[in-house]
Amino acid sequence: MNDRKPTNITWHEQQVSLTDREKLNGHRSAVLWFTGLSGSGKSSIANEVDTILHAQRIHTYLLDGDNVRHGLNKNLGFSAEDRSENIRRVGEVAKLMVDAGILTLTAFVSPYRADRDAVRDLLENGKFIEILCRASVETCEARDPKGLYKRARAGEIKGFTGIDDPYEAPTKAEIVLDSDGKDIPTLAAEVVSYLKSQGVVSN
Ligand code: ADX
Repeated sequence: MNDRKPTNITWHEQQVSLTDREKLNGHRSAVLWFTGLSGSGKSSIANEVDTILHAQRIHTYLLDGDNVRHGLNKNLGFSAEDRSENIRRVGEVAKLMVDAGILTLTAFVSPYRADRDAVRDLLENGKFIEILCRASVETCEARDPKGLYKRARAGEIKGFTGIDDPYEAPTKAEIVLDSDGKDIPTLAAEVVSYLKSQGVVSN
């Protein structure tokens, strides 16, 4: 990062408002912010929710940690500073997508509460829906879909969330999904029913 800051810039009001876009779409926009340990089911559940909503003609897009780190954030690692920057950028992208009227899903470990709260603060009330994918480290480690826990235990990966790096669970998540005992379709249905109960999408 550098200290360059833009000067001589002015905010332009745009003629097409978010309300106009939401009317055109027939649903509201929001961010579904999935957070949880690696292997807790974030991507799988987010993908399932995305599929269900897409089939209902809802305009959605999924920003997934591993994918965004191949492009926009490919210059970031896993230090506390880089993770914060990762989440800050994704928060800003999500804010733009929400402003474009898109129901945006994000799947990032996002281990630090302050970083997630900063994204919450970027968005209008009700537009940041924090979803905790709750699963114990033991469960995630037993699943170990990418073999990363094994490598972290072997000391090949340092600073792995849940092993030798912290995960700060949300204290005020809008939705808590117990991913230990339920299957993906059941958990995805819980998210969709929350969106209906809040009037984000209609029944
Ligand atoms: S975050 O902490 O900055 O939010 P992000 O969700 O983008 O993380 O990326 C996490 C993914 O990167 C994990 O699912 C895992 O596949 C991989 N990964 C590689 N190194 C680490 C690490 N040290 N801690 C956590 N995840 C890691």
